[in-house]
Amino acid sequence: MRGGKKVNVLALIGCPVAHSKSPRMFNTAFQDTQLPYVYLAHHVEPHQLEMAVNGLKTLGYEGFNVTIPYKETMMNLVDELDESAQVIGAINTVVHREGKWIGYNTDGAGYLRSLRESIAIDLNHCKVVMIGAGGAARAVGYALCTHGIQHLTIVNRTVKKANELANQLASRGQTNFLALADAEEVIAQADLIINTTSVGMHPHTKQSPIPIDWIGAHHIVSDLVYNPLHTALLQGAEKKGAKIHTGDGMLLYQAAIAWELWTSRPAPIPVMKKALEQANS
Ligand code: ATR
Repeated sequence: MRGGKKVNVLALIGCPVAHSKSPRMFNTAFQDTQLPYVYLAHHVEPHQLEMAVNGLKTLGYEGFNVTIPYKETMMNLVDELDESAQVIGAINTVVHREGKWIGYNTDGAGYLRSLRESIAIDLNHCKVVMIGAGGAARAVGYALCTHGIQHLTIVNRTVKKANELANQLASRGQTNFLALADAEEVIAQADLIINTTSVGMHPHTKQSPIPIDWIGAHHIVSDLVYNPLHTALLQGAEKKGAKIHTGDGMLLYQAAIAWELWTSRPAPIPVMKKALEQANS
């Protein structure tokens, strides 16, 4: 209790969590806005996950974020699932509401908000090629389809997975699929190329998911992989004169949406952004 007021407790749970920048980002923003919240980080071992989730409820936590390796497992431990978590098949944010844990996934919506903040783009008339068909692609594909995108082609090294994801999203928007190896022409005709694969991540930072020759000056190229020096894909795209969008915004905006779910107030984006940059430096 502080000044007679209740302090609401939030947390990150994962294994490991010591490296996480979320506590610093959220606590700086809560201090700045003078909202009575505190955000902790709890390292939870796999065999104690269910006990920990029940413990947070017993202790009256307002909610929590979920990170690796529990985003999928958490689906079985909450009381209700928001549509975002249902479709994406993973939870990154849990909200306490009337004695229940409600699971959300704010990754896709966070990605979309980051893209819109960084580039003026009319997604409804935009031809989008999304590379990858894994968990990150499900989040981004769901967000694109629920925000009215008309032309989405999912391309993946394993075409079967692209087909499955396109089928899953079909009720929400027009989606096609293609093998990555056959995607040169559809990519040439696209406005926006999004990499959701892990290609370009440390230690394979020199790799690009597509040949740079496939990129032209008319493209917007977005990469979920974050590298402060830019991924090989984004470096190549810049050389070709394309506009680029980097992966760091997704972390900021998925957190901003979680903030809004917990507090029902707009997130102080500039404060959170600065805290994140300071934590990165
Ligand atoms: P995440 O949850 O991070 O999305 P994932 O579910 O394992 O991780 O998905 C990884 C994605 O990266 C998949 O689309 C994968 O392609 P496949 O389905 O063919 O495996 C893609 N990927 C990983 N390494 C790749 C590579 N070297 N070339 C092309 N695609 C790759």
